[in-house]
Amino acid sequence: MDNAYGSLASWVYHVDKPIGRSFGDIEFYLSRLKGIGGPILEPAVGNGRFLIPLLEAGHVVHGFDASPHMLEVCKKEVSRRNLPDNVSKKNFEDFVYSEKFSAVVMPAGSIQLIKSPIACLDFLKRLKVCLSETGKVILDIDSLSFMLDYGPESRMWSLGEDMLTLTESRVKTSYLHQTTVSQLRYEHWSSGNLVSSELEVFSLRFWGVFEFKSLLHEAGFNDVSVTLDYKRPFSMSDSDATLGEVITFEASS
Ligand SMILES: C[S@@+](CC[C@H](N)C(=O)[O-])C[C@H]1O[C@@H](n2cnc3c(N)ncnc32)[C@H](O)[C@@H]1O
Repeated sequence: MDNAYGSLASWVYHVDKPIGRSFGDIEFYLSRLKGIGGPILEPAVGNGRFLIPLLEAGHVVHGFDASPHMLEVCKKEVSRRNLPDNVSKKNFEDFVYSEKFSAVVMPAGSIQLIKSPIACLDFLKRLKVCLSETGKVILDIDSLSFMLDYGPESRMWSLGEDMLTLTESRVKTSYLHQTTVSQLRYEHWSSGNLVSSELEVFSLRFWGVFEFKSLLHEAGFNDVSVTLDYKRPFSMSDSDATLGEVITFEASS
């Protein structure tokens, strides 16, 4: 399965992006969620990096994720802090909730893990069903420039005797489908000996700003606004704007 986030991948994610590690997203989303009284949903909650600061700010937050390994880390971190655990195993493809949410949040480009545009449209339509009449969605995508960013890239994390490594190599880039496929090789070393390794196939779909805005409209969302790098509001008529690394969409249901 692509984008499986197995046990080593989840360990590396938690070391590299621990609870509260912000890319500017936590502060930005919290400011946008001010005044929201009802529950919030975070699909692809991961280790809880983003969910836990929202809970600590007093929001009621539900989350789901497909990876049991990520969920295990998230649940441990939630329980260590005595916070309410509303996190469960569900997939983008078939999640359902009976309650209505006041907001859906999806930072870190998680929506790009949905490769097919049809599946992404279906996902957005189902998100809309989960929202209250006055609800809103806030989500990020990475700029198209990341499509050109070829590896291989190697990273490592030292944890006393233990060392975690990640080698990322691009396997395929489709400019037609705006997708990339990379091989992620995770390794756990202890005192110089290889303990375990894990290979993941990591697939992403990239979107243009106008294209994604149109997709949100097609899914039934209104009042779509765009912010670049959590700082600069962007309108399609702004011909002087420079490309941001992160593009955030906000839309009402
Ligand atoms: C980049 S991490 C984001 C974690 C967290 N939202 C954050 O901001 O740090 C992406 C998450 O998407 C989850 N994921 C991947 N495919 C999924 C799917 N089909 N359904 C639900 N979650 C999925 C992965 O398990 C992983 O935890």
